Amino acid sequence: MKDKISIGLFGFGVVAQGLVHVLKQTQGDRISIKKICVKDPDKARSLPDSMFTLDEDELLLDEDINLIVELIDDAEASYRIVKKSLQAGKQTVSANKKMLAAHLDELILLQKEHHVSLLYEPSSCGSIPIIRNLEEYYDNDLLQSITGILNGSSNYILSKMTGQGIDYAEALHQAQELGFAESNPTLDVEGIDALNKLVIITVHAFGLYVSPGNVFSFGISTISAQDIRFAKEKGRKIKLVGQVRKNQDNTLSMYVIPRMVSQEKYIYNVEDEFNGVVIKGAFYDKQFMFGKGAGGFPTSSAVLSDITALGYDYRYEYKKMKLQNRLEFSNQGIVHVYLRYAVESDFALFRFEEIRERYSSAGFNYVTGLITLENLQQIRTQLSGRNVFLAEI
Ligand SMILES: NC(=O)c1ccc[n+]([C@@H]2O[C@H](COP(=O)([O-])OP(=O)(O)OC[C@H]3O[C@@H](n4cnc5c(N)ncnc54)[C@H](OP(=O)(O)O)[C@@H]3O)[C@@H](O)[C@H]2O)c1
Repeated sequence: MKDKISIGLFGFGVVAQGLVHVLKQTQGDRISIKKICVKDPDKARSLPDSMFTLDEDELLLDEDINLIVELIDDAEASYRIVKKSLQAGKQTVSANKKMLAAHLDELILLQKEHHVSLLYEPSSCGSIPIIRNLEEYYDNDLLQSITGILNGSSNYILSKMTGQGIDYAEALHQAQELGFAESNPTLDVEGIDALNKLVIITVHAFGLYVSPGNVFSFGISTISAQDIRFAKEKGRKIKLVGQVRKNQDNTLSMYVIPRMVSQEKYIYNVEDEFNGVVIKGAFYDKQFMFGKGAGGFPTSSAVLSDITALGYDYRYEYKKMKLQNRLEFSNQGIVHVYLRYAVESDFALFRFEEIRERYSSAGFNYVTGLITLENLQQIRTQLSGRNVFLAEI
């Protein structure tokens, strides 16, 4: 890349404003923002009006701009912008995990076709450099699983409910006020944001792209004080956890689900908006990465790291995608779950392989037992809107 990095920035929200601040604190004059494309013409901005435009082509067709940084909250527009940017031969950074998880297979091909690089470290776990580590350091077949708290807002909500007894709605409101939650918080609390990150992480950990629609995910939006109390009585905390693991038959299991985490686990002490990722391998057992997974400054520091990496022409090689012995995704795995439900017809949706414990009283019914991910995925859409809560034990 040229000596000077001239950025065309899309978006001027929490992360983009964080980037402007971080750039001011850390860089000389090698990196500068030439123009910012936003959506709302009426919003007051903290930079001069001349910096802003509503026309995306002003950035994408400007030959002086050699790097596009896409930090917007609209996945469809993000896809269009990132695609056009790569097709125009511009190095690109994106933080949009929803867009990336949906289109990564195509974007990998586009990078090759146009000899450009797309980096997206901020999309997965905010400030934690998980992607580049998986890509460079864990570049072998020793990896067994990646397990993590991948969503800062839901972790913040669970921390406040467990630690301070705050109710769900108040804790969600706090997460939104603090800028941790997505513009559409459904993505956070339904486990979809964690799922999107898991899809991206799996590409770099195991070289396999799996469309998010094929992977079971369940969030925390139906959690109750009863569930928190149940976990506490067993010395556990409920955390929203994403996992991808390699099975002995060369298949990969992937899922996102609340989990009752015991004290000896690394992720037990990951609180508030922090994320924590446990990397398990054949000979080193477990390693743990911990850091802020959301918020303007932590996320923008990952954006800056990608910008500087593009300054020395870094690109993801996707080496594991080229391996001979490719892994296959499978929903055959079995999970041990706690299911709290209100009415028998909701319980009847689940096809347990084995029931271990069953309890019923006025207002509190639960079962624990073994169930396949396949069955959970089959009934996933039917669970929406029902008063049921699931957690892995
Ligand atoms: N916040 C976090 O902690 C965090 C962490 C990791 C990743 N991310 C990701 O980073 C991205 C940005 O998040 P954010 O929290 O900064 O969002 P945000 O505060 O809601 O800001 C979104 C920005 O996108 C702009 N925008 C929306 N559609 C646009 C379009 N079609 N063209 C140009 N600009 C458009 C908006 O413009 P206006 O200002 O004109 O409304 C706004 O400035 C998202 O993909 C998010 O998933 C966020």
